[in-house]
Amino acid sequence: MLPLSEKYKVIEPLTEEEFDQYFLLRWKVLRKPWNQPPGSEVDFNEATSMHGLILNSHGKAIAVCRIEMRDVLTAQVRYMAVSEEVRGQGLGRKILHYLEKKAKNKGARRVYLDARENAVDFYVSCGYRNIKTSYLLFGEIQHYGMEKSLG
Ligand SMILES: CC(C)(COP(=O)(O)OP(=O)(O)OC[C@H]1O[C@@H](n2cnc3c(N)ncnc32)[C@H](O)[C@@H]1OP(=O)(O)O)[C@@H](O)C(=O)NCCC(=O)NCCS
Repeated sequence: MLPLSEKYKVIEPLTEEEFDQYFLLRWKVLRKPWNQPPGSEVDFNEATSMHGLILNSHGKAIAVCRIEMRDVLTAQVRYMAVSEEVRGQGLGRKILHYLEKKAKNKGARRVYLDARENAVDFYVSCGYRNIKTSYLLFGEIQHYGMEKSLG
């Protein structure tokens, strides 16, 4: 059987339905477990960011991520989330690489991100290095500043 990362492709959400799915998964994975209300997953930079979305065969979001340009040479990844039941099947890596390529095409030479402690090893295996201790989210989720050169 094909691994999920080969079965499903990354798209950029365009329709209202795709954006609903996109934000729903972001909220479910990154906000709901900390009792944050719907809407708390959205910020003011959505319109100027690039978004990646993987839908399953039922049209449900199973992986989402966003990248934005911080300055002309540096992109920043935010809101990486893979649905719990399909983790470990290459979807996170696939969506991250897709957005890194998009940022590179816009001129980015490096990518920065603040990684949740539980995700640091995932980013290491995607070529990032841990450069500093960053902020604490919701009083309990330690983040680490990580970066990768796009070469
Ligand atoms: C972190 C997350 C995005 C990883 O997505 P995923 O689809 O499960 O990851 P992949 O299957 O693409 O894994 C890619 C590589 O990272 C490794 N990896 C993934 N999650 C890992 C973890 N928690 N610890 C150690 N290694 C991990 C995999 O083993 C794989 O390595 P390999 O290619 O050498 O075998 C996913 O677990 C998730 O959504 N977590 C909850 C939300 C979160 O913390 N998001 C990050 C916010 S900064």
